[in-house]
Order: sequence, then C-alpha cells, then structure tokens
Amino acid sequence: MKDQLLDLENDALAVIAGAESMIALQDIRIRYLGKKGAVTDVMKGMRELDPEERPVLGALVNRLKETLEEAFGERSKLLRQTEVANRLASEKIDVTLPGRQSFSGSKHPVTLVTEEIVDIFSSLGFCVEEGPEIEQDFYNFEALNIPKDHPARDMQDTFYVSDDVVLRTHTSPVQVRTMLKQKPPVRVIAPGTVYRRDSDITHSPMFHQIEGFLVDEHVTFGDLKGILTHFLTSYFGKDLGVRFRPSFFPFTEPSAEVDIACVMCGGKGCRVCKGTGWLEILGCGMIDPEVFKSVHYDAEKVSGFAFGMGLERIAMLKYGVSDLRLFFENDLRFLRQF
Ligand code: PHE
Repeated sequence: MKDQLLDLENDALAVIAGAESMIALQDIRIRYLGKKGAVTDVMKGMRELDPEERPVLGALVNRLKETLEEAFGERSKLLRQTEVANRLASEKIDVTLPGRQSFSGSKHPVTLVTEEIVDIFSSLGFCVEEGPEIEQDFYNFEALNIPKDHPARDMQDTFYVSDDVVLRTHTSPVQVRTMLKQKPPVRVIAPGTVYRRDSDITHSPMFHQIEGFLVDEHVTFGDLKGILTHFLTSYFGKDLGVRFRPSFFPFTEPSAEVDIACVMCGGKGCRVCKGTGWLEILGCGMIDPEVFKSVHYDAEKVSGFAFGMGLERIAMLKYGVSDLRLFFENDLRFLRQF
C-alpha cells in the first residue's frame, strides 16, 4: 500500500509539472483529489486494512494530499505568471512604429464650382432654392412654354418615368415651383442634378446645372447683362471677354447665349474653342410672359430674367479638364487634385 502511494505521488507530481494551462491543471486536480479521484480511491481502500495499520496509512495519505496541494499551488502560480507575461508580450504597442497615413477627403470639383457660384450670387442677394430630380411634365415642360411637339420632349432626349413624369432635363422647373409659392420680388439661384439621354466626351446622361432668375418691377435685359458680366468676370477673371448672342428658348423672350473668350488660348483660337476664340457658357433671357401666366404673375406689372448653365462644363474650363467622364469615374488620383 505504501508503495502504491509513492507511485501515485510520483505520477501526480510528474503530471502536474507537465500541465500547460490552467484548464489542464484543473482537470488534473479533479483526477487526483476530486470525489472520484485517485487519492479518494486509496482512502476508501483503507477500510479493508488492519485497525493498527490505518493511522499510519492515514498519516501518509494526508501528507500525500498536502504535497499535491502544494504542487498544484505552485504550478498554478507559475502558469498564471506566464499567462500574464504572454499577454503583455502579445498586446505590446510599439510606440516607435511610424503612424499609418490617413488621407483627408476633398470636395468634388462639381461641388467646388457650385459653392463658388452660389457664393457670388448670394453676395448679390440671391437665395438658394431646390426642386426634385424626378419631376412632373408640367414643371419641366408645360409651364415653361415647351409645347408637346418640342424636340426636347422626344424620348431620344428625355428619360421618362411614366407618361407625365420625367427625370428633369434642366433646373428651369425650379423657376416654376418657386414662382408658384412666392410673390415677386424673387431672386433665386438653384443648383441641381439633371438628366438627358446623351453620352460622349462632353456629355453625360447625368450632369449638373445652376439656374438663376430674378423677377421684380422694371427688370430689363440690361440688368441681366450687368449681373452675368459681373458673375463671369468675378469667376474667370477681370479682363475676360464676354459676348451675348441672340438665341431661342421657349421660356425666355428675347433669349441669348453667352460666350466668354476662350480661357485656354485667351481668344486666339485653339482646339478647345475650335479655333473661334469663344466658348459658349450659358443660356439666358427675359422670362417669357407665357411662363408668368403659368405661375399667375402679372406680366404687365413685373418682368424678370433667367439663366442656366452646365456646371461640369464650367469646372472643365476652370480646371482644364478635357474629358467630362473623369468627373464621374471616382478615380482618387483625379479627385485628390482638387
Ligand atoms: N434650361 C436651359 C437649358 O437647359 C438653360 C436656360 C435657363 C436658358 C434659363 C434660358 C434661361 O439649356
């Protein structure tokens, strides 16, 4: 029996010394000292011993228990220490490592151009208005005096959502919406996204426009010329050449297109201005009395002007970008330059 105890002790001590984790150690403890453990088994066997042998063996078993408890205690202390040391090593932060580079975003060139233009018109007392991109035929065409047989209404040019709902083809419907809810005087600048069935290096099916209009008593074409010339020279530079050419829009009368001297060649003639020295930059005119009729303004009492321009085109000229599609490809190498 004594030999058996000695074997058990040597066995247990070896196993404890080999325990690699706290969990393994816990299992070993149950295996030896638990209710059904090896040491308990030995104690049960003592009942069959001679009464005089029992105390001797009892003392030996108690010693064995103490020895094992001590071994468990020591092993668990060691394991805990290595666990802490391992954690400290694996979670260590090397403060001498170089930081990870982070990039701050920048505004999209179309956003930049929009903000700059809005700023100029805000300083002239214009307020920003917006309208929906999915628009009713009435606001996009009908109220703007664009008749049913006008080519702009063709399926070739316009995205139809249903028979009388379209993706707005210009920002001019904001004129109608604003005038229907506001009495004159109005002075509005309206940036927004517009859609046309068009796609090549200078056209995208989705692009941006900015609309401006002003209605009051005694507004003349001279006011329109003055304001647009002020805007174009503050945006592109003081000595910029500006010219107004007669044109046609169903919702303005008279109408004009405005050219600026080519910003690439200064008017000498180059590839960008196709040798003419001029660049077409916006459409404008005096608001047609038919439009005033649609919004219940009295054309005898008030007059006004309106203008509209493509923002990508202006951004291309301002930043010297040759392909419009670059604005929508989301290539960071392009976008980070602004
Ligand atoms: N809406 C016209 C276009 O998209 C531009 C315009 C606006 C012309 C206002 C005159 C007055 O081409």
